Amino acid sequence: MPHLRPYVSAVVRPIPITTREERVEELDRAGHNPFNLPADKVSIDLLSDSGTGAVSVDQQAWAQRGDERYAGAESFFRYREALREVVPYEHLLPVHQGRAAERVLFSALLGEGRISLSNTHFDTTRANVERLGAEARDLPSPELFDLDGEHPFKGDIDVSALRQVLDGPDGERVGQILMTITNNGGGGQPVSMANLKEVSALARERGVPLILDAARFAENAWLVIRREPGYQDKTPLEVAREAFELADGAVASLKKDGLSPEGAFIGLNDAELADRCEVDIIATEGFRTYGGLTGSTLEQLAQGLREVVTPAYLADREHEAAYLADRAHQAGVDTVRPAGLHGVYLNAGRLLPHLPPARFPGHALACALYREGGIRCAELGSLYLGTLDDNAELTSPAPFELVRLALPRRVYDHSHLEYVGEILAEIAKNPESVPGYRITENPPILRHFRCRTAPL
Ligand code: F0G
Repeated sequence: MPHLRPYVSAVVRPIPITTREERVEELDRAGHNPFNLPADKVSIDLLSDSGTGAVSVDQQAWAQRGDERYAGAESFFRYREALREVVPYEHLLPVHQGRAAERVLFSALLGEGRISLSNTHFDTTRANVERLGAEARDLPSPELFDLDGEHPFKGDIDVSALRQVLDGPDGERVGQILMTITNNGGGGQPVSMANLKEVSALARERGVPLILDAARFAENAWLVIRREPGYQDKTPLEVAREAFELADGAVASLKKDGLSPEGAFIGLNDAELADRCEVDIIATEGFRTYGGLTGSTLEQLAQGLREVVTPAYLADREHEAAYLADRAHQAGVDTVRPAGLHGVYLNAGRLLPHLPPARFPGHALACALYREGGIRCAELGSLYLGTLDDNAELTSPAPFELVRLALPRRVYDHSHLEYVGEILAEIAKNPESVPGYRITENPPILRHFRCRTAPL
């Protein structure tokens, strides 16, 4: 049966068509950091899949029903009902975005000297652990390091490494186990239910809270259905619920699988912990029945949460990511295998072997994609993860030099993705012409968002 996209455009946004000259100028002005580019100079924006999706006509219709009363608004109850269909926790607290959920929950679970163990902490998640004086330790499965391997669940945590830490001298200091589904920092790779079950049993045995960072809970469920024996006849809703049931709680940005420009939640069964989070949320986000979100957003989220678990939508998402990965391969650019759903991760280190990690090949490719085609994306390599000295020279590189082409939900069609493939092919024809970079301004934290760089 050929693939049929299960929606059409109902409202469109024109995109700018820029010249190479303009883009060179914009890059200079932006200190060669894609995060500094004004969006109206970007033609294809693959910087993030967060809050960047298209809403449906039903979401728009529901948004009109937004009840903006301060406490106990109808919109909150509709949001909570929809959320509870997927997330079966007793306490569901709305907040405005994922990192707010992290800040609030981690403040209650961690503190100076504590340790958070994860398959991989996402960048802001790591920042929210570290700002408490705690340590964010990643224990990814060894398969993650084989970029070309076809292992279906490279997002798993390394259970034997986890057990070793829990049983070792640091065991007493572990405040949480955080499973990121799907593993965004780890190439968008999914986590298997088998892995979650093992971690859940271990966490319960040792009395350590298991928390899901469930920003892409529906996408993880879909990849479980597609790849894990025993799950092919289940629905995405059933699989997602099962994942939440294995954990003690969750933080989740709903800017991804809530199909909304904003929103997140903290979900918990522990009443005392939920109570402490609620006090923090009332003081810093908003009253417990809106958490900083408008009634319109709560309505949009309720509808989005129902749309995101439909098999037709998720199958389309898989099809699009695979299509983009194929375009990259045809262009001669390798990607992290197998393709996930929310983005395609390019192997920039392999494409640009003339650039050592200290000249930031991932960043160089991201800048080249903008310069040659007005395409914006972000590096996931030594600029983001490397260690630098006081002169902003690299002292310890990241394990890989990748570039993430994130796919906003329901936004780009095949012609856009084909264009990305054509620009990649142009770059790949003459890779030695792509210049390396040095850092000219190096902020001490969250470097990749805030640094300025210059081509060499
Ligand atoms: N956790 C994961 C796994 C994420 O991917 C993100 C955001 C967050 C937490 C934070 O959520 O943005 O709502 O505060 N990821 C975006 C991205 C920004 O582009 O990958 P937020």
